[in-house]
Amino acid sequence: MRATVTAHARFVVSEIDPRLYGSFIEHLGRAVYTGIYEPGHPTADQTGMRGDVIELVRELRVPIVRYPGGNFVSAYNWEDGIGPKQQRPTRLDLAWHTTDSNEVGVHEFADWCDAVGAELMYAVNLGSRGLDAARNCLEYARHPGGSHWSDLRIANGRAEPFNIRLWCLGNEMDGPWQIGHKTADEYGRLAHETAKAMRAFDPSIELVVCGSSNAKMATYPQWEATVLDHTYNEVDYISLHMYFDNKASDTPAFLAEAIKLDTYISSVSGVIDFIKAKKRSAKTVYISFDEWNVWYHSNEQDRAILEGASGWPSSPPLLEDIYNFEDALQVALIINTFIRRSNVVKIACLAQLVNVIAPIMTVPGGPAWRQTTFYPFLFASHYGRGKALDLRIDSPSYHVDGLGPVPSLDVAAVHDDDAGYLTFFIVNRSGEAIATDIRLEGFGSGATIVEHRQMAHADLKAANSAADPEAVVPRPGTGAEIRDGKLLADIPAYTYHVVRLKV
Ligand code: AHR
Repeated sequence: MRATVTAHARFVVSEIDPRLYGSFIEHLGRAVYTGIYEPGHPTADQTGMRGDVIELVRELRVPIVRYPGGNFVSAYNWEDGIGPKQQRPTRLDLAWHTTDSNEVGVHEFADWCDAVGAELMYAVNLGSRGLDAARNCLEYARHPGGSHWSDLRIANGRAEPFNIRLWCLGNEMDGPWQIGHKTADEYGRLAHETAKAMRAFDPSIELVVCGSSNAKMATYPQWEATVLDHTYNEVDYISLHMYFDNKASDTPAFLAEAIKLDTYISSVSGVIDFIKAKKRSAKTVYISFDEWNVWYHSNEQDRAILEGASGWPSSPPLLEDIYNFEDALQVALIINTFIRRSNVVKIACLAQLVNVIAPIMTVPGGPAWRQTTFYPFLFASHYGRGKALDLRIDSPSYHVDGLGPVPSLDVAAVHDDDAGYLTFFIVNRSGEAIATDIRLEGFGSGATIVEHRQMAHADLKAANSAADPEAVVPRPGTGAEIRDGKLLADIPAYTYHVVRLKV
């Protein structure tokens, strides 16, 4: 099979917002407790944060981390997580049926974000609470001093305001599972008034309003239209979420799912355009895809806890999917989709970061290790900054019912024209090798390959573990060359490649 691709330096989709490589930490399972925070762990710092986890997060160069939820936030009192730790209340979390000691709150998490080099993206509770708690939380976090809440922050040991610029107006408010679930009109009104109050306090913040929890929701896409109709002029982003699974054990169909993601993005983009036109607005709202990942391996194992049959455990192992090689291909395909849609998707958060459907896993008292999915995220985060190119791709395809022809070869390219690098992220999602010609136009002559890494494995279900953390890792790629102004590469079946050129 053969594929041809054309990359032209002047055919650009968009400058990529680095926050496309964001992530998410929720008070859920072992994400916080025994994930990022484990006092007594051999690598823990004086605040109890695990040093080995900080190192791995830094390795990923995550620019932004969403916190504290997720479903958790919809019954969370942000005040529970401030003040002396021994005086903080222990609470029962209604979203995940667990107990939270509140030892970690906004102070500890903001310090951790500083340690990993990320910004904090903070979600306020619009489920069980509302405008008043949101504006108090913002005043606590952002006001320099001389008011009730900002002085309390100072008394709690933080003189300077927190650097939290991006705020989510609740989480998945369209979902009947959400504490304080609302109709689109109820939520749209509340989000509008909350946004107005928050902006009156601090016009420099950016606000994310909830879109649909997934494209299968009965209320999608009317939800987006109604919510944006209420909020368009007050918000900057609309949030979307999507999770992928291979429950049907059908790898070709599983690896085609990113096409649904692409359709979801383009449909919501159409809704944004519709409301923008309806409002005669000069402003553009963008998409914050602030939860995405593969999620299904742990579903059965989690059932007893989620149904309450296990009582209210503290930091139980919830949503601990162990990712295999085909999941890494899927993550690469999802990120390629975001790169190609970076004109409308400005923020995306891999959900989540540690232990809970995560690229980083920890053993309490033991090591931290990298899942298969760590690597495609790492390469995109490192090399996917610059201009996303509008490629022309002619690829062989295969058929999936309901999706039609699915291109076997999936490619995204990012041009960092300041540093002079052009990086191709290539996935062969089919079972046959593809001889690939990539025409390079407008990059001048003398392009050279500076790096070629590939992920391949004879077993699509191979996974890493604490005992065998390097079963699936990237290796040097072979067989790519530059000839006659083209990048030529043989892309074996079911492989992922990062080819980086100096141009
Ligand atoms: O990321 C896990 C959960 O998935 C989040 O809490 C929720 O927002 C979504 O349904």
